[in-house]
Amino acid sequence: MGDNAKFSINGDNYEYPVLSGTEGPDVVDIRKLYGQTGAFTYDPGFTSTASCESELTFIDGGEGVLLHRGYPIEQLAENSSFMEVAHLLLRGELPTADEYSDFTNTITRHTMVHEQLRGFYQGFRRDAHPMAIMCGVVGALSAFYHDSTDINDPAQRMIASHRLVAKMPTIAAMAYKYSIGQPFVYPDNELSYTGNFLRMTFGVPAEEYVVNPAIEKAMDRIFILHADHEQNASTSTVRLAGSSGANPFACIAAGIACLWGPAHGGANEAALNMLKEIGHPDRIPEYIARAKDKDDPFRLMGFGHRVYKNYDPRASVMQETVREVFDTLKVKDPVFEVALQLEEMALNDPYFIDKKLFPNVDFYSGIILSAIGFPTSMFTVLFALARTVGWVAQWNEMISDPGQRIGRPRQLYTGPTKRDYVSIDKR
Ligand code: ACO
Repeated sequence: MGDNAKFSINGDNYEYPVLSGTEGPDVVDIRKLYGQTGAFTYDPGFTSTASCESELTFIDGGEGVLLHRGYPIEQLAENSSFMEVAHLLLRGELPTADEYSDFTNTITRHTMVHEQLRGFYQGFRRDAHPMAIMCGVVGALSAFYHDSTDINDPAQRMIASHRLVAKMPTIAAMAYKYSIGQPFVYPDNELSYTGNFLRMTFGVPAEEYVVNPAIEKAMDRIFILHADHEQNASTSTVRLAGSSGANPFACIAAGIACLWGPAHGGANEAALNMLKEIGHPDRIPEYIARAKDKDDPFRLMGFGHRVYKNYDPRASVMQETVREVFDTLKVKDPVFEVALQLEEMALNDPYFIDKKLFPNVDFYSGIILSAIGFPTSMFTVLFALARTVGWVAQWNEMISDPGQRIGRPRQLYTGPTKRDYVSIDKR
């Protein structure tokens, strides 16, 4: 703990403790501020507000550092697997060989969904956005798994977490299959988490599906890169929903809804659409000029980040993965060339330099996902699939915290002051 922060309002002086974490900026503990001074703090967008204490993920946006329980994302992406990272986030440590085997076995045994859940899909139009289906179907899980909705029981919380991580690939693949009119493919317990997802998505009952190990590895790495990201908008949504005691399936559905927006998880879809629209390196200057024009709402999608004021470390891993996938599939995509040149041009432009705008994780992910065969509408679904582990880990952390209270922000009210009702004939 550092020196107290001194604060003066209306001529009175107050002191508030300054708390230090293991990394990152100190925080001024203002929990008593309202009680003592009668004033609120004002921080729309929470740019200066720590909403919780957490041991899961640390980001140093200035240096471009991302750590999960201390381990750098680059090392996890290079050496680990999504199941290991899931264990790390949920259980606190990288697993031993026995723990790994137990954990993957548990997740594998939860991959099937209740047979009646299939009926939900028929209620959607075939052209429904798969994120719309995800919001509905994941929320509906609460109606199926009553034995894991008591949030005060740690064992039930862990079962719900396993169920969510395990069933998300099945639910996501079903959303895709429904949109293209193919039969749902049941999970295969012989396959890895990621291999199984690829088979449920791209396999058909009429023939055997052989998982391409290079694509499986690339996909697994994409899942690792999206597993958790501190108190981002969707994670904060999950925490806020969960703070009222809502069940975990409902909370994750809330997170999915928040992730869908183009300023968050929807950016990978928007980034690829933008790169395709640019189409040729010759047109890049026109789009850079538009992004800089204050009167034009256009922004370079996949660029900029609330926290990273340096290269997003996930974007560099993603860029390498694009090359690996292209080598494996022996494809070339002119969109990748547009992306590389756009990045170079933007990073040399004073507008982007001054505002510290760098490519984020979404800039390259769409190019890989498209090469693997996913339609753009599935991109955010894949993000939701991977982020589910972060969401449930953060939700568990919150519920286990003895100091946890319902999240209830206050406001700066600027509406009319008290006035008397006027009957309709006098208005
Ligand atoms: N293109 C052009 N200008 C930009 C961009 C961009 N992509 N991003 C930010 N700016 C400019 C803003 O116009 C603003 O300029 P000003 O100070 O002159 O008004 C300045 O940079 C700061 O931007 P803010 O919007 O205030 O920053 P904020 O932290 O609120 O927003 C966000 C961050 C939403 C990510 C923003 O950079 C953006 O819209 N990027 C494009 C969408 C995107 O890629 N989202 C993915 C985020 S990562 C993720 O969710 C996984």
